Amino acid sequence: MPDRNHQPADDALAAAQRAEREASTGAGAEAGAQADASAPPRGSDAERDQTPLQAGSHAASEAPRSAVPDAAQIEHAAALLDAGELVAFPTETVYGLGGDAESPEAVARIYAAKGRPANHPVIVHLAPHGDPQYWVEHLPADAQRLIDAFWPGPLTLILKRAAHIPAAVSGGQDSVGLRCPSHPVAQALLDAFSARRGGHGGVAAPSANRFGHVSPTTAQHVRDEFGSAIHVLDGGASDVGIESTIVDLSRGFPALLRPGHVTPQDIADVLGEMPRLSDGSDASAPRASGTLKAHYAPRTPLALLPFDALERVLSAAQLAGERVALVARASRAGRWADADGVHFVAAPEDPHAYARDLYGLLRALDRADVARILIEKLPDTIEWIAVNDRLGRAAAAFEALE
Ligand code: TXA
Ligand code: MG
Repeated sequence: MPDRNHQPADDALAAAQRAEREASTGAGAEAGAQADASAPPRGSDAERDQTPLQAGSHAASEAPRSAVPDAAQIEHAAALLDAGELVAFPTETVYGLGGDAESPEAVARIYAAKGRPANHPVIVHLAPHGDPQYWVEHLPADAQRLIDAFWPGPLTLILKRAAHIPAAVSGGQDSVGLRCPSHPVAQALLDAFSARRGGHGGVAAPSANRFGHVSPTTAQHVRDEFGSAIHVLDGGASDVGIESTIVDLSRGFPALLRPGHVTPQDIADVLGEMPRLSDGSDASAPRASGTLKAHYAPRTPLALLPFDALERVLSAAQLAGERVALVARASRAGRWADADGVHFVAAPEDPHAYARDLYGLLRALDRADVARILIEKLPDTIEWIAVNDRLGRAAAAFEALE
């Protein structure tokens, strides 16, 4: 909300953001090895009732988790999908808004619910025993290698779509995105739905949020997005916390369309070559909404700056009497951790923990009554590539507001 009284902070912020953009030299994502390439922990219904990012005083705590859905609830949800209805379900990355991938009507319902343009493709989720061959024109050897290495898990493959699969699921493109999630509730739902389709059912599911907004990592987040209009299966908090890595294999070479828990180095270890990292200039690259510059944004203006630039904005905000949230590593925060008017949240030093808690934190800060969210820019190293990607897109949503 624009407010004349906040002019000094606005000026400092705009100047800091300009300086940062000018200083920015790009990703530098080639170097370095990923510390932990092990499979992600499974997003069970574990009662992980933690406050996001070890939040300070009142970054909201989540609602209590419900029990794992029982067999009858899974069957009921599968029957809804079978009837062309939508069901939101947990995955290890984020919650998905699912519909029958072979029903253009169900896919249209997904687009309508999200408010998403119909030319954006959605990912098809397969059961553990699902057959990727059914969905594609041809399964390249590289795809099979990545499947063997990372499925079930947070990796989506873009491949040439089989002719009998309706184009609606890929927004009219000739490709299809496939992923087999590791979350047990997702797997139970996909198994039950697939069984109703002679073993070949797939569930189209984008993240269960309105277009451009922060992805949901709990059932409550989904309810916050859609109210009671959407049937939600509750499987606890998602462990990975950010969307799957997307690798495009539809164009004869591996290309990373979206970074995630599975890193470029993990891919290279399996394929023997580094996937091409998209710089947004590739006109032949498939359209992917997660690759839009401004995406994954909270409602409160968010700025991502190095700590020295943040300090200038914090000082200006204090002078203006503006209450702000500060997300920074505790080792850097110094006096700002308990400064007046500063809602401080200690960010984890580890990229996996940061990713897991990020979206819950952004949602909590949207409710924390702060004028803006200031986030310390993280190192430009490959282990932070996925978190940097999401933070950068969230901040980009507000740069136009300067
Ligand atoms: O972790 C995830 O991937 C989550 C969970 C629910 O599985 N899903 C997710 O979906 O993030 P969504 O729709 O929010 O993002 C999927 C991304 C989009 O950027 C979409 O455009 C891209 O995948 N995508 C899907 N199919 C594609 C295709 N055929 N070609 C290019 N991009 C595709
Ligand atoms: Mg999404």
